[in-house]
Amino acid sequence: MSVSSSGSAAYSGSLEDSNAQRGLWSSRLAFILAATGSAVGLGNIWKFPYVTGENGGGAFVLVYLLCIAIIGIPIMMAEVMIGRRGGHSPVNSIKAIAQRDGLNPAWKLVGAVGILAGFLILSFYSVIGGWAISYVGTTASGQLSGQTADAVGAIFSGLLSNPGTLLLWHTVFMALVMLVVAKGVRSGLERAVSILMPALFVLLLIVVGYAMTTGHFGQAAAFLFQPDFSKLTTSGVLVALGHAFFTLSLGMAVMMAYGSYLPKKISIAKTSITVSVIDTGVALLAGLAIFPIVFANGLEPGAGPGLIFQTLPLAFGQMPMGSLFGTLFFVLLIFAAWTSGISLLEPIVEWLEEQKGMNRTVSTLGAGVVCWALGIASILSLNLWADFAPLGFIPMLEGKTIFDLLDFFTANILLPLGGLLVALMAGWVMSKPAMEKELALSPGTFNLWFVTVRFITPIAVGVVFIYNLM
Ligand code: PHE
Repeated sequence: MSVSSSGSAAYSGSLEDSNAQRGLWSSRLAFILAATGSAVGLGNIWKFPYVTGENGGGAFVLVYLLCIAIIGIPIMMAEVMIGRRGGHSPVNSIKAIAQRDGLNPAWKLVGAVGILAGFLILSFYSVIGGWAISYVGTTASGQLSGQTADAVGAIFSGLLSNPGTLLLWHTVFMALVMLVVAKGVRSGLERAVSILMPALFVLLLIVVGYAMTTGHFGQAAAFLFQPDFSKLTTSGVLVALGHAFFTLSLGMAVMMAYGSYLPKKISIAKTSITVSVIDTGVALLAGLAIFPIVFANGLEPGAGPGLIFQTLPLAFGQMPMGSLFGTLFFVLLIFAAWTSGISLLEPIVEWLEEQKGMNRTVSTLGAGVVCWALGIASILSLNLWADFAPLGFIPMLEGKTIFDLLDFFTANILLPLGGLLVALMAGWVMSKPAMEKELALSPGTFNLWFVTVRFITPIAVGVVFIYNLM
């Protein structure tokens, strides 16, 4: 499976059968692995639990699940379909479809939104990836065993207060991502996903097993699955929507890029549902692993981005063979973050190659180093600039550091916007017969999908946006 060999660079305007000239996924499984590698990452294990905690639990989880089901899956199908039909990198796929269906070439904007979003997300994603790297050492050294919640919290605060250490691990993470993107060989790593992801799943199950012994499992399950709508705010709905896009890697044309390698005979709907179900399963397991520990130790569910780093180490410090499991867990988390990080950097590198004629190494170095430098602003937001809220004069952005702003602007604005454009393109302008052929669904299922991307997604995203602006 040669996903990154850029057949797209050879884009010549000949449109039909373009897939025949490119490396196709060897199987449906290969696509699922790559798409899952992108989707399952820090979003599931780091972000889902902490945004759930901050937004009061059950009602937020319900909205998030609804967003996955009625917005996420249809958009993922649309992205994969556009990619497969276009048969090139996202920008050129859209160009190709625009030519064939007589659309305005300005739809390329979808690709531009994606490129910008990926670049901005990676800048802070890499900082959090760095936290995971640092915790491999913390768990392996055994210093967590038998520690109290306060001591574990102090270890984490110690990490955040030290810009030098954060910079070191951020650099290591970014270098790992750049290395794979520059080499253009992802196949090894993607094959590794087929072993590492199930392993991550098993380790999460082990932590869930430990969490059951804390005596607070029922309370955690109730927190996650018993909706209390009085705790749900409009901004919570926006966060749930944004997180659905973030966690499924949508609105960024990543699935479009991967879809361009999917063989024609494979069902787009089944594959998209499989990826989404795996992704959601990992997030819910992470929630079930973390919240019992939160309640058992009297911690604060709304503790914010540090939540998993203040809870999981406690579990690893207390369970039998905790140092071993903990070390393994953080190593696997790094792999999950790595495969996602690659898919964040890929779009901008591909764009520099195709549009600016740079070679892969130069474009990876250029984009990676600028992204790394931007990451320094996120690092400083955690310590020296912790009180600096550049857009604090806007009520909605009050108290948000640069790190918070990057997260907010990408996940809650850019990704839903990218998704909205994809929905509008599929729902309103692309050739319907061509889409019917590409998706190969029964007429009833096709219409269900079509009505969703034509009306439901744009209205839902529009309403959530407008409510939040008001
Ligand atoms: N889905 C990844 C995660 O949950 C993050 C990501 C977002 C990756 C957008 C690619 C594109 O960690």
